[in-house]
Amino acid sequence: MAGKEKYYITTPIYYPSNKLHIGNAYTTVLADAMARFKRLTGFEVCFLTGTDEHGQKIEREAAAAQKKPQTFVEEIVAWIKELWRELDISYDDFIRTTEKRHYEKVQQIFTRFYEQGDIYKGKYEGWYCTPCEAYWQERQLLDGKNCPDCGRPVELIAEEAYFFRMSRYADRLLEHIEADAQFILPPSRKNEMINNFLKPGLEDLCVSRTSFNWGIPVPFDPDHVIYVWLDALSNYITALGFGGAGDKMARFWPADLQLIGKDILRFHTIYWPIFLMALDLPLPKTIFGHGWLLLEEGKMSKSKGNVVDPMLLSERYGADAVRYFLLREIPMGQDGVYSLEALIKRINTDLANDLGNLVSRTMTMVERYFDGILPAAVGEPSASDRELQELALQTPSAMERCMDELKINEALAELWKLVRRSNKYIDENSPWELARDSEKRERLGTVMYHLVESIRFIGVLAGPFMPRLPERIWSQIGLAGEAAAKLRDWRSVHRWGQMKPGTAVRREEDLFPRLNLGRELHREIRLPETAASGPEEQRKRAAPVSEKIEEGGLITIDQFGRLDLRVVTVTAALPVAGADQLLQLTVDLGAAGERQVVAGIARHYRPEELTGKQVLYVANLKPVKLRGVLSEGMLLAAEDEQGRLALTTLDQPLAPGSRVR
Ligand code: ME8
Ligand code: MG
Repeated sequence: MAGKEKYYITTPIYYPSNKLHIGNAYTTVLADAMARFKRLTGFEVCFLTGTDEHGQKIEREAAAAQKKPQTFVEEIVAWIKELWRELDISYDDFIRTTEKRHYEKVQQIFTRFYEQGDIYKGKYEGWYCTPCEAYWQERQLLDGKNCPDCGRPVELIAEEAYFFRMSRYADRLLEHIEADAQFILPPSRKNEMINNFLKPGLEDLCVSRTSFNWGIPVPFDPDHVIYVWLDALSNYITALGFGGAGDKMARFWPADLQLIGKDILRFHTIYWPIFLMALDLPLPKTIFGHGWLLLEEGKMSKSKGNVVDPMLLSERYGADAVRYFLLREIPMGQDGVYSLEALIKRINTDLANDLGNLVSRTMTMVERYFDGILPAAVGEPSASDRELQELALQTPSAMERCMDELKINEALAELWKLVRRSNKYIDENSPWELARDSEKRERLGTVMYHLVESIRFIGVLAGPFMPRLPERIWSQIGLAGEAAAKLRDWRSVHRWGQMKPGTAVRREEDLFPRLNLGRELHREIRLPETAASGPEEQRKRAAPVSEKIEEGGLITIDQFGRLDLRVVTVTAALPVAGADQLLQLTVDLGAAGERQVVAGIARHYRPEELTGKQVLYVANLKPVKLRGVLSEGMLLAAEDEQGRLALTTLDQPLAPGSRVR
C-alpha cells in the first residue's frame, strides 16, 4: 500500500487538580471523533492528550488536600485515564509533564532560548491569576481587581524572573495570522486575538517564577521554576521526541489540528507560535477554539459545585450516547447547553427512535419473513431503491467534507439523513403488505436487502462517533469476525451491494432503549453531589439504565408495601418556563393537603385538560427540584413504544388521598 498521509491531532493537557467535568470531556471527545474518522479514512494518526501537572495552582491545591504535589496529582491522573477508558478515547500517547521525556526537553528548550538571547533576567511586578496561571496588566483587569478570563481575584506578585522577548516575533506572527485563513479557527476568534492582544502591542512574557517550587527548575538558575505555560505548551513537541533521536517529530510535526477551548486561545495562538518560531519550527496548521459547554443556569464551575460528572453519565447512559450528545448537540465553535433533559431527548429521538428502531424493525422483519437469512436484491431497482442507494453512496463524502471543515455536528447530521431515509424507505415500501402477497416475495426480499445494506453503511460511518455501536450492529447483521473485515472499512462504503445474500442475521437487544424522562430527571440530583467528591473517596457507581428491574425479576409484598401509592385530584396545572416537556401541577391528597408535582407530560396533555382528573400518585418519593421547581412525589403514567403516554386515571371517582393497594 502507498504511504499513508499523517494526521497529528492534540487536545490540551488537563490540570489534574480536580476530577474533570463534562465541559473538559467535550474537548477530548471532539478530538477522539476526529482521530477515529481520520483513521477510518486511511490516515496514520497520532492523537495526543495528557496532563499539565506543575505550577502554583496545583501546588496550592495539593497543600489544601495535605498532600505532596506528586502524590496529589497521581490519583487524579489515574482517574483521568480511567475516564478516557470509559469514554473510549483512543489516544496514541498520553504525556505527563512530570515525565522525564518532557521535563528534560523543556529544560533544553529554556536553555536554548536563553542562549539565543530570547530570554533575559529581570524582575516581575504585577498581577497574576493563579487558577488560570496567567499574567495580566492592570488595564486588562475586570473592575481593577479580577481576572478578565475567569473573573476571580488576581494577586500582586513581585519577584525576580526571566522574560521572553515576545516583541522579536510579534510582527512575524501577526503577518502569519493575517495571511493564513486556516491558522486560527473559527474566524471570529482570529479577530479577537488580533484586536485584543497583537494590535495593542505584545509585552515581554514572564517565563519563570521564584516564589514556589512545584515546577521544572531552570537548569542554570535552579531558584527559578519554568512558567507553567511554557512547560505545558511544549508537550505537543516533547511527546514527539523533539530534540532527540527518532523520527516522530519529522513524521508528525507540524500538527494538523490543535483543538482547545476558547479560554486558552491566547496561550495557543500567541505564546505557542512564538515559542515555535524561536525554535525554528513550522507552526501548526490549525488551532481550533471550540465553544463553552454551559448549564442552563450559566457556567459550570467547580466552586459552585454544579459540575456534571462525565463518568457517572457514561456509566448510566453509555459512552456512545454521551459522546453522541456532545458531538451532535453543540454546533462546532459555538457555546452549547448541557441539560439532562436535552441528553435524554437526543437518546430517545435520534438514538432510540431513529437508529434503534431502524435496526430492530429490520432485524425483526428478516427473521419473520425470511427466517433470519438475508435474501438477495432482484430485478430493476425501484425509484425508492435508487434514492436510498444514492444517498448511502453520497453520505461518506458528505461526512468527510464536514469533518474537514471541522463541523463534526454536521457530519452526524449527514449520517442521520441516511438513518431517517432508511426509515422512510420502510414506510414507502410497506413490507408488511408485500408479505401478504406471495407474488411479491422477491420484492419483499429486495426491500430487506436494501435495509440491511444501508444499516451496514451506517455501522461503518457511525464508528468514529460511537465506537461501541459498530460491533453491536455487526453481530446482528452477520458481519462479526475477521472474514467480514472488508465489509466494515471505508472502501466498503463506496460500493453498494456488498452484503452477501444468505448471511444469517438476528435481532438482538435494542441498541438504545427509550428512557423515561421524568424518572431520569428525578435521578439527576445525584450527579453533582457525587461529582464534587474527591477521587480518593469511594465513588458511588451510577446504575446503568440496563439495570432496571429485569423482566420476570420478582419483588416481595413487603417491598411493594414501601410505596405509598394514593389517588390524587389535579387542582391546577401550569407550564414550566424553559422546559417544554414539563408541567407544574398542584394535586389534592385529601387529609394530607395539597402537594406540588413536576411531571414530564407537557407533550401529551394540555394544562387545562388536567384539572379535575384523578390520577395514581407515589406519595413517599423524596422531593427534588426539577428546573428549580420543587416536585413532591410522582404521577404514574404509562408509555408505549410509539411514545404515546397516558396517565393512570380511575374508572370511577374516589376520595382524594385514597390508598392504592
Ligand atoms: O487549561 N466547556 O487545562 P484545564 C468546554 N492545563 N470546554 C471547557 C469547559 C467548558 N465548560 N471548561 C473547561 C488547561 N474546558 C491547561 C491547558 S494546554 C498546553 C494546557 C476546556 O484542565 C478548556 O477550554 O483547565 C480546555 O480546552 C480543557 O477543558 C482543559 O482545561
Ligand atoms: Mg481551565
